[in-house]
Order: sequence, then C-alpha cells, then structure tokens
Amino acid sequence: MDNKTVYLNGQYLPLNEAKVSVLDRGFLFGDGIYEVIPSYYGHLFHFQDHLTRLENSLAGIRLANPHTREQWLEILTSLLDASENQYIYLQITRGVAAKRDHAFPETIEPTVFAMCSNIIPFAGRENGVKAVTMDDSRWGFCNIKAITLLGNILHRQEAVDQDCAEAILVKDGMVTEGAASNVFAVIDGILVTPPKGNNILPGITRDVIVEIAAKNNIACREQPITLDALKSAQEIWITSSIREILPVVELDSKAVANGKPGPVFETMDQLFQAYKQSLS
Ligand SMILES: Cc1ncc(COP(=O)(O)O)c(C=O)c1O
Repeated sequence: MDNKTVYLNGQYLPLNEAKVSVLDRGFLFGDGIYEVIPSYYGHLFHFQDHLTRLENSLAGIRLANPHTREQWLEILTSLLDASENQYIYLQITRGVAAKRDHAFPETIEPTVFAMCSNIIPFAGRENGVKAVTMDDSRWGFCNIKAITLLGNILHRQEAVDQDCAEAILVKDGMVTEGAASNVFAVIDGILVTPPKGNNILPGITRDVIVEIAAKNNIACREQPITLDALKSAQEIWITSSIREILPVVELDSKAVANGKPGPVFETMDQLFQAYKQSLS
C-alpha cells in the first residue's frame, strides 16, 4: 500500500496509521461532504471557489465549518508536492456519535480527513470517449458535494459495464450532468451547459469554461438541454477537475457528428491549458 502522509483531525500521519471509528457518521450514514481540489505544481487551482463550494456543502448539511480559509490553506498546502500535478481529496463528516441515531447528536466533533494524489493524465482526451445516457435516479440535493455517492456510483458502473467512460444523466427529458462530471454540448453552433440548481453539482471546471468562453467571444449559454437536442449535438463534452475537458465522440453507440473531437473542444482545451499554465 502507498504509505503517503495524510491529514486526519489535526495530525499528519502515514496512510496506514490513519484510523476512523466505526461509529463515525460518515461510515454509518454517509453523513458528510467532500471536495476535490486540483493543484498544478503546488498551486491550488481556484482554491477560493472550492472553499466557497465547501462552505455551501457544509451549510447544506447543517455542519459548521471547522476551519477558516487561512487554516484550510495551511492544512492542505502541507500535503502537496510542488514538483507534481496533484489533487487534494478533502472529506468532512459529522463525526463520531456515542450511538447510531439518524438525528444529529447535540455535541459532536467533525472528522476531517485529507489526502493528496498525483493527477494521471486521462487517456481519451485526444480521441474522445464513449458515453451512455440513462435516467438520473439520484436524490434532490445534487448541488451538495455529499459523500453519499451510491446513486453516482451505480450510474458510473452501468456506463463502465457498457464500455463507456461516463453516464450522462437525464431527468424528465432534460440533461442534468455526468455521474462524476458536468456536461456541455455544442448545439446550433452555441456552447450550452445545463443551468445550476439542485439537479447538478456546480462544477468549478464548468465555471472556468463558462468564464473562458465569455472572455474569448465563444457563444455560451447556461440553459436546459433536452435529451433530443443532446442526441443531435455537434459536440458533447464532460468536464471535471480530474478529467478536465473530455470530448464525447460516441453517445448511446452512435457517433457524435463525425465521431472525432470537434473544433470548439480543440479551441476550448487549448484556452483551458493556457489558463492553467498562466496560474501556476
Ligand atoms: C456529480 C458531479 N458533477 C460535476 C463534477 C465536476 O465538478 P468539478 O469541475 O468541480 O470537479 C463532479 C466532480 O467530481 C461530480 O462528481
């Protein structure tokens, strides 16, 4: 086992010494939230935006933020290797209660865990990936980055079982997001992504792409996408902090346009890579 240093409740320790009680509400109920923050050569990407989302997720589950922004920066920076591209996985659960009871205990200390892993460039960026659409069977708080990921896991596994890189989820005929990504499409020459709301996680990569589009006169709208519109889109992308922007070249076993990554993807990917470089 990789025995790297991790952070647990105020201590830095080897991974195999980091232990959490079986009464932790994260283990018993999935009662917690998380963040994934990329770091390019020691520089945390859009750190303040990730902290804002963390605060929103904590507020969404009625859990007080255990640290200030300055403290988070100090805690997480100590885990990074500045010579690598890495990501921080940060998880906060409600903590360890004396007994198993759904309602929140009156006094409880949150469990804070963080670890760092190298980003392995995702195969598939050059030639694109396959995706499959399916009914979004998740809960009503998808805007919270909750550790309770069973719905997402089952959707992703169903995609993997069909030899696809991602499940694109659809609720009431409208595209929501991927099992672990946001979705963009080029429809009638315009870049479109579903609007924020309870049905999707407000992805940081998504926001960065919307900003880059605005700065570079690439027509982009945050508006609902019907499944029919997705099926006839000129381009489809999935986006996330770890996978960045991935072109989908096959949807439900049919080629997207000519089955190759499209020109808007090529432009946006170059702009995205240049933007990353400019910050690190
Ligand atoms: C369900 C879901 N939507 C969207 C995203 C993309 O968010 P971000 O760009 O902040 O990584 C993720 C990332 O893991 C996710 O799990």
